[in-house]
Amino acid sequence: MSTSNTKKTLLVTGGAGFIGSNFILYWMKHHPEDKIINLDALTYAGNLENLRSIQDSKNYIFVEGNIVDRDLVERIVADVDMIVHFAAESHVDRSILEPDAFVQTNIVGTQVLLDLAVKHKVKHFHHISTDEVFGSLELGKDTQFSETTPYDPRSPYSASKASSDHLVRAYGETYGLQYTITNCSNNYGEYQFPEKLIPLAITNILDNKAVPVYGDGLQVRDWLYVQDHCSAIEKVLESGSSQKTYVVGGLTEDIPNIEVVKTILKIMGKSEHMLEHITDRAGHDVRYSVDWSHIKKDLGWEPSVSFEVGIEQTITWYLANESWWRPLLSDNQDYFKKNYQDRT
Ligand code: NAD
Ligand code: DAU
Repeated sequence: MSTSNTKKTLLVTGGAGFIGSNFILYWMKHHPEDKIINLDALTYAGNLENLRSIQDSKNYIFVEGNIVDRDLVERIVADVDMIVHFAAESHVDRSILEPDAFVQTNIVGTQVLLDLAVKHKVKHFHHISTDEVFGSLELGKDTQFSETTPYDPRSPYSASKASSDHLVRAYGETYGLQYTITNCSNNYGEYQFPEKLIPLAITNILDNKAVPVYGDGLQVRDWLYVQDHCSAIEKVLESGSSQKTYVVGGLTEDIPNIEVVKTILKIMGKSEHMLEHITDRAGHDVRYSVDWSHIKKDLGWEPSVSFEVGIEQTITWYLANESWWRPLLSDNQDYFKKNYQDRT
């Protein structure tokens, strides 16, 4: 699609979040000629600390604002070549407690961006989505999600992301929007908010607190190091075919959550007694696994970081960056209480 090497202006939504900020750092390193406008509402999950190293760069502009704000988005979109849309409410447990924001940001916000992308003839709209839209695979089977798997979302989060995917495709069919979509599996790495399993486990262990494992802990996720996700998005932005979807996943082969936690405990020199089974997540998807052979064949992308290497790097980063995560725990006590109290 957008293969030219000429200077481009990218609107990145949600660029102060976990994957968005990793992507901006990655893109500015590999494409220093391009200009990035980062539009982010700075919800609990947005953190400008992640971007401190590039905040004064002449090719980077931060705009604090909400993607549902049509007037604001219109003023920005008028001058961009490409939209890379990360902004979302991203945490399944929060979607179970309070689904409203998920509908607003993930569905209505996406629709606002799509309207204005069509109106201003944006050349490429890339939508970042999730493998959770496909629902849940059976444990013990070797089935995998692919580009042809039917949608079957099972949480308010995944239903809102599925809805946004459908809107993107509908705008392609109806209005001729040039888009691509990536449906990616579980990311982990630096700057991930410590509500998600891996950073929650690391930060709990550092605080000598038990690590909560939902239910029997036999659920399986497909883990991808965040830098590998960034390189997959880069491939799609540079060479992906218009109106096409790519599924993206990692190198893990069915590691149950309980083994993920045991691995972290082992690396951090702690006993398995710190693992605590608690009441399961409502509607918990039991297994994700992604067949990424299509993006490999089409665009030559494949993950490069094994879970063994990525998890060591991630633990090392959290050990060295307590000043980054500590305030997030204290500022979000209400959520942690609501989600974890009375679940033992
Ligand atoms: P995150 O929660 O860390 O960050 C989301 C960012 O979006 C934050 O900076 C937040 O301030 C911003 N935001 C939220 N609502 C907004 C709004 N209304 N207007 C503007 N900005 C808003 O999320 P993440 O984990 O980095 O995920 C980014 C994207 O990738 C999401 O679309 C998510 O669905 C998708 N995804 C995530 C994973 C994962 O494992 N984390 C995997 C696959 C896909
Ligand atoms: O698959 C991609 C998705 O991965 C993304 O779309 C989401 O944005 C992202 O949050 C992630 O969703 P999960 O629900 O899979 O991630 P989470 O880290 O919340 O949970 C991973 C697994 O660990 C899941 O099976 C639930 C379990 N878990 C999670 C937490 C927070 C626990 O056992 N204990 C916990 O305390």
